[in-house]
Amino acid sequence: MTERIFVALDVDGRERAVEVVRAIAPVLPHFKVGMELFYRCGPDIVGILKAAGAKGIFLDLKLHDIPNTVARATAVLAEIGVDWMTLHASGGRRMMEAAREQAEKRAAALGRPRPKLLAVTHLTSTDSKMLVDELGSAEPLDRAVIRLAVLARDSGMDGVVVSAQEVSAVRRVWGPDGVIVVPGIRPAFYRAEGDDQRRTATPAEALKQGADYLVVGRPILRSPDLRAAAEALAAECEGGDLPVSPSEGSP
Ligand code: C5P
Repeated sequence: MTERIFVALDVDGRERAVEVVRAIAPVLPHFKVGMELFYRCGPDIVGILKAAGAKGIFLDLKLHDIPNTVARATAVLAEIGVDWMTLHASGGRRMMEAAREQAEKRAAALGRPRPKLLAVTHLTSTDSKMLVDELGSAEPLDRAVIRLAVLARDSGMDGVVVSAQEVSAVRRVWGPDGVIVVPGIRPAFYRAEGDDQRRTATPAEALKQGADYLVVGRPILRSPDLRAAAEALAAECEGGDLPVSPSEGSP
């Protein structure tokens, strides 16, 4: 169960990231690295965190560019030992297929597993009004999310990142094998004061809806005792009557 949680390392530098990994990895071994940490520290941060005890690294850079550019970037990420990575489904089928092909080729050449490719549908910061007013789309947000989730499935992605509200609908179109990752998780022990997340769920709710992996950041990072917060989260997840994930144990 603890392998189904990514701790979001939304911290400003290498020292704090290593401190968090050392404190938490014995309880929660998988970590998500976002743009801030990656752009500050560079690709070496992946190996540094693994040396500090991280078992799996999810690199959340949300790639979106022409197919050739994204495919070449994906090949580099396969080289540096990333285990999961994100790209925007709205980049289109050719972009996603090219990324998958290059990830496979580069990983095979190195004799290691390729990164699992996770598609972002619509960001949780996007709402229906923005879709209409700014992006000129008449499609309701919930339908747009499903359409992009289907496109991602048909373009060779391993899974998607969606909010807890969308999990059950996305699970229906993906079936049991797709990997569904859900951020915006708020454990019962956490008081979310001044927090910007809106479409939140408890770990038990998200898992019950069909999530395979949860992303949890501030409920752990804001705790004065990192290890205790990780243990409280693990206990809360273990306590529920949770379904077994189809992708448990990967990578
Ligand atoms: O601190 P918190 O638990 O809200 O962190 C959630 C993490 O998940 C952050 O790193 C955030 O960027 C990421 N995320 C999100 N919503 C998405 C995609 C990623 O909150 N739709």
